[in-house]
Amino acid sequence: MSPPLIELRGIEKTYRTEAVEVRAVRGVDLRIARGEFVAVMGSSGSGKSTLMNILGCLDRPTGGEYFLDGEAVSQMKKRDLSILRNAKIGFVFQSFNLLARTSAIDNVELPMFYSQPLVARAQRRQRALEALKKVGLSDRSGHHPSQLSGGQQQRIAIARALVNSPELVLADEPTGNLDTRTSAEIMGLFQALNEAGITIIMVTHELDIAAYSKRVIVMRDGRILSDQVNETPRHADVEIARIDREEREAKLG
Ligand SMILES: Nc1ncnc2c1ncn2[C@@H]1O[C@H](COP(=O)(O)OP(=O)(O)OP(=O)(O)O)[C@@H](O)[C@H]1O
Ligand SMILES: [Mg+2]
Repeated sequence: MSPPLIELRGIEKTYRTEAVEVRAVRGVDLRIARGEFVAVMGSSGSGKSTLMNILGCLDRPTGGEYFLDGEAVSQMKKRDLSILRNAKIGFVFQSFNLLARTSAIDNVELPMFYSQPLVARAQRRQRALEALKKVGLSDRSGHHPSQLSGGQQQRIAIARALVNSPELVLADEPTGNLDTRTSAEIMGLFQALNEAGITIIMVTHELDIAAYSKRVIVMRDGRILSDQVNETPRHADVEIARIDREEREAKLG
């Protein structure tokens, strides 16, 4: 049997500053299989982003063990870890984190500059174009972020997350800055990626957004409070059609 994509055993993260010690994550055990679509909820300060940073190998736990695809991440050297992260994980953030003075396609190409083995220039272009196509923005490749709507910027950021064909996409409040319809579109994209086999873990404050996932984890005070399967995920297509219908009716009324 192949190992789960993610296995956390007793993960702890304590931030130490001069004045205080914050136990942001306090003993999290978690297994996530390939192909899952997980929403992480919980009030502000409950440790969601801290946990995501550990899952994304952006930060190391202060205790416990993390196995990514069977590999003991906690014991890896920094350089090996960044190569692994670059190959396996795509990141999406609430504030898009695109480079402002850089075109959409150049933003999408960025992660490939850190790939091992190196990716040739022509191939970088081609893979970036393919990623832009996946998010429906081939026609905006030359635009700069300021020339794009919030939803379009997030789609560019998703294309960037996809360009190295990751197994795992981590998204921290990906719809936090978007309206309801645009959020549904982004969820549609995530559902399509998930159907294509990509594992997705997404932090959200909104029940309406968590409803698109297949499993909902709630954190409280650095621990997992509940972990439940969502038997009836919401479908983005259905939701978008409903929003459009309501809008038409509102205009007629
Ligand atoms: N770099 C840091 N140094 C010290 N304390 C930190 C650091 N990052 C987070 N914390 C603390 O750890 C706790 C968990 O923070 P975290 O950002 O993980 O919460 P969160 O669940 O993502 O909250 P939100 O919903 O507001 O984004 C908080 O008490 C926070 O103040
Ligand atoms: Mg957070």
